[in-house]
Amino acid sequence: MPTGSSGSGVKACVFDAYGTLFDVASVAGGARALLGDRGEALSDLWRSKQLQYTWLRGLAGHHADFWQVTGDALDFALGTLQLDAPGLKKRLMELYLTISAYPEVPALLAQLRHHGLKLAILSNGTPAMLDAAVSHAGLAGRLDGVFSVEEVGVFKPHPEVYGLAPKHLDLQRQEICFVSSNAWDACSAKAFGFQVAWCNRFGQAPEQIPLPPDVEITDLTQLPGWLGLD
Ligand code: LAC
Repeated sequence: MPTGSSGSGVKACVFDAYGTLFDVASVAGGARALLGDRGEALSDLWRSKQLQYTWLRGLAGHHADFWQVTGDALDFALGTLQLDAPGLKKRLMELYLTISAYPEVPALLAQLRHHGLKLAILSNGTPAMLDAAVSHAGLAGRLDGVFSVEEVGVFKPHPEVYGLAPKHLDLQRQEICFVSSNAWDACSAKAFGFQVAWCNRFGQAPEQIPLPPDVEITDLTQLPGWLGLD
């Protein structure tokens, strides 16, 4: 059951992409198919390094887009695990373009839209990466916006990134429910002033950083109930 008081006055739901709507385990599955039992170590290191590089670049003021950063993180992970084969990097990178949505996502978006909510993605991903993932998952036409950090040239958790949602949706911060599986993203969105649901799919411990999310759910099917839409 979700924990946290009910969301109210929400006019839009804005979702993080990777790990929240899109299943990064599908990237891990693709890596396992290519690399066998080393695929999991590769995908774990790849994902954690990818996020570290976004934060490092943000702090240093050296932005590069998420495709570049994802490729740099993959180079690091391949180098660390001493994996190399012709075409391997290209095939692994392509997994990000064909990433699966979590199974509950299409019905959830339909239900939220039925209740009149605006729906959007707000992600570190480049517009091209996000367009590919949205199309591959059959979500084109189910969203009112796909907002990429590329518009502001800095990664999450910079407040300018979160500011894209109220700007484009023409709403107040507290009228937006931001949903992320990444606890650090959820806390940062709360600090910005959104109502926030943390989708804690894997039973992770809460981050010890300021401003916890308003609610913790274990998958996205619990979101409408928290919003009072059942
Ligand atoms: C994103 C990463 C943080 O989609 O998952 O922005």
